[in-house]
Amino acid sequence: MSIQDEIRRLTAPDIRARKGGEPIVCLTSYHAHTARLVDKYCDVILVGDSLGMVMHGFETTVPVTLDMMILQGHAVMRGSERALIVVDMPFGSYEESKEQAFRNAARVMKETGCGAIKVEGGRRLAETISFLTERGVPVMGHVGLTPQAINTIGSFRAQGREEKDWGPIEDDARSVSDAGAFSLVIEAVAEPLGRRITEKVAIPTIGIGASVACDGQILVLEDMLGLSPRVPKFVRRYGDLGPGIEAAISSYAKDVRARAFPGPDQVYNMKKEN
Ligand code: KIV
Repeated sequence: MSIQDEIRRLTAPDIRARKGGEPIVCLTSYHAHTARLVDKYCDVILVGDSLGMVMHGFETTVPVTLDMMILQGHAVMRGSERALIVVDMPFGSYEESKEQAFRNAARVMKETGCGAIKVEGGRRLAETISFLTERGVPVMGHVGLTPQAINTIGSFRAQGREEKDWGPIEDDARSVSDAGAFSLVIEAVAEPLGRRITEKVAIPTIGIGASVACDGQILVLEDMLGLSPRVPKFVRRYGDLGPGIEAAISSYAKDVRARAFPGPDQVYNMKKEN
C-alpha cells in the first residue's frame, strides 16, 4: 500500500467539524469481527457499556468494569481501520473526581488506542469534561436517558416527555458542549427537545430515540440486527438474524448426531491406504 492509499482513521476534530453537515453514521460494536463490518459504513464505532447487557446478560450497565471496556475496546480497534473508536467509561470510573476521570480515561486510551471516550451526564460533569479535553482526552457527552443512573431514575423510560421538563436537559446539553466535548449523544427524549438541542448546541448531536434532526444517529448493533431479546420502542430493525443463526446451529447439531459431520478424509482429501 502506498502512503497515498493509506486509510486514515477519523478523529474527534473530524467528527466535530460535521456539525450541520453530512449526517454522522454511528453503531456500537464490541468485537473485532463485527467491527470489521461496521467499519465499512460507519464514521464512529462506540464500544458502549451496553455490552454488559448485550454480551453478558446483565440487567443494567452498572456492573460493567473498566477492564471489560478495555478488553472489548482493544478488540474493536484491531477489527477496524477507518472509523473513530469511542470507548464508554463505565459507571464508577469517572464520577468521583476529575482526577479519577483523567486517570481512567488515560488508561483506556493508552491500552486500547481508541480516539475518544464517552461519559454520561450533564452540568455535574462540565468541570470533568473541561479537565479531560484540556489534557488530550476527546470527550463525547451523553444526556437525556442516562442508563448508568438507572438506580436513581428508576426505569429506562424516555426523558423530557413533558415540555416543563425540557429546561434541565437543555442546560445539561449546553454545559457539555460549552465544556469542550466534541459531540453529544441524546438518548430517548421527546422529538421536539432533540431537535431544539441540536439547533442550540455548537457540537454535533448523535440521536438514539431522539430526533431525525440530530447531526447523526446511533443504534446498538445487536438491537438493529434482531439479536437482542428486548429492545427499546424506538429501535428500527434492519435485520432478523436470530432465526438464521438458530437454523444454522440446529443443522450443525443434526449433522453431529447423525455422524454426517465431514471427516478429515473429505476435508484434507487424504489418500485412502489399501
Ligand atoms: O452503551 C451504549 O451502547 C450507548 C449507546 C446506546 C449510545 O451508550
